[in-house]
Amino acid sequence: MSLTTLIHQIPKAELHLHIEGTLTPELMWCLAEKHGITLPYKSVEEIRQAYLFEDLQSFLDLYYAGADVLRDEDDFFELMWAYLERCHEQNIVHAEVMFDPQTHLHRGIEFDVFISGFTRAINKAKDEFGLSVYLILSFLRHLPESDAIETLRIARPYLDKVHAFGLDSSELGHPPAKFERVFNQVKELGFKIVAHAGEEGPPSYIWEAIELLNVDRVDHGVRCQEDEALLDYLKEHQIPLTVCPLSNLKLCVVDDMKQHNIKWLLERGLRVTVNSDDPTYFGGFLNENYVAIVDALDINAQQLKQLVINSVLSSFLPEDEKRTIMSAIEDVYSQHCN
Ligand code: HPA
Ligand code: ZN
Repeated sequence: MSLTTLIHQIPKAELHLHIEGTLTPELMWCLAEKHGITLPYKSVEEIRQAYLFEDLQSFLDLYYAGADVLRDEDDFFELMWAYLERCHEQNIVHAEVMFDPQTHLHRGIEFDVFISGFTRAINKAKDEFGLSVYLILSFLRHLPESDAIETLRIARPYLDKVHAFGLDSSELGHPPAKFERVFNQVKELGFKIVAHAGEEGPPSYIWEAIELLNVDRVDHGVRCQEDEALLDYLKEHQIPLTVCPLSNLKLCVVDDMKQHNIKWLLERGLRVTVNSDDPTYFGGFLNENYVAIVDALDINAQQLKQLVINSVLSSFLPEDEKRTIMSAIEDVYSQHCN
């Protein structure tokens, strides 16, 4: 069995995925037509050709503009459903999915509209595929902390639909410290916490995410390589990093996949995981991310297994559900080795 086949067959978890980053050019085009929105592109192909980025901000500008075609509950259902069908095709058995309420609330779309569309798709995927999905409510760090606090207030009636809270958007100039108060509130409510840190920002942002926000995982975190003490800390405490290889390549965090540090971090004993971030913008869903690093970095079958196990261990699933997935991974590996 080739490693590509193995990647496909292993049951996997995805922990770093922005649902707004799964909008395909085709769905963007269709929804623009449905709502009578004029896009600055003449065709689906032109949308696809616009996906050339020089850094995180150049991507975010296009990503927030694209999200404007999402208007009613069916749109949010379709967006989530298309991603969950893809999960099923790719043998993803558990997904922890971020959504950005502020992107939609600021356009006058009520919380009830997007959360209802998302949960309808999630329930259908649970029934039809046995897929488990947790939602992570993410705050936009380019906005003031007061806006995040207000978003948390608006989200209160829907918190039974949410498993964790996150922090995303433009990193540089918006350190985790800016959001200490809102994450204190989140912690008091008993939720898990994740934050993007060390994608473009310095290692000090990763320290702040750990020490001030009390994160359970760091999203990206690849710049930890620049700080020996941080590497030791992440290893000792096994704090998961949700790494997104194709995203790092597309946003020029690395110039070449051969220079990606995921294998180096894995060999150093850090709990690194593989994820797709914004797959339709970055050129690949989860399996394509695994294939890209296996090819570029010569990752072997045992290292691949460790990456997949790391994603299960780093999920927010209860222990018995983690054990069920782990034994399914063992089954696939015992077939692979025979
Ligand atoms: N970084 C920060 N914010 C984001 C990203 C990312 O990679 N994707 C969507 N929002
Ligand atoms: Zn991200």
